Amino acid sequence: MKFMVLHGPNLNLLGTREPGIYGNQTLEDINDSLRELSVELGCELVFFQSNSEGELIDTIQSAAQNCHGILINPAAYTHTSIAIRDALSAVGLPSVEVHLSNIHHRETFRHTSMIAPVAIGQICGFGSYSYLLGLRALFNFVKNK
Ligand code: DQA
Repeated sequence: MKFMVLHGPNLNLLGTREPGIYGNQTLEDINDSLRELSVELGCELVFFQSNSEGELIDTIQSAAQNCHGILINPAAYTHTSIAIRDALSAVGLPSVEVHLSNIHHRETFRHTSMIAPVAIGQICGFGSYSYLLGLRALFNFVKNK
């Protein structure tokens, strides 16, 4: 089983970006813990981060060829991107939306997700652990499909 892990805009700055909200771990730290979990689960991961909506969409489209699911933190595009939502919907792969922060406890513009209606589910508020919960949920969903 192979999963695409997608990180949206500004997540390349994790570690120094608003640590009070997003924690001290870098994106590479998060990817390392996902790699560790993938060994335990016995699945393969492909990682991609971009600040560009188009690149994220191209990568979602390419996942259709060789991946069984998508773990995605769309970052700020969560709240604005009908194009990312449509790409996820078009490829039809199971996807799980994750966020480090609890978007529902924050500014009202973060309460709406364009992505949630096309994802299996959303996990937010657990810091980097949201990603690990998300991968477990995605793996379990695909395994039992
Ligand atoms: C985020 C939450 C978004 O609202 C924000 O724009 C981000 C990060 C999170 O992981 O908590 O960039 O997706």
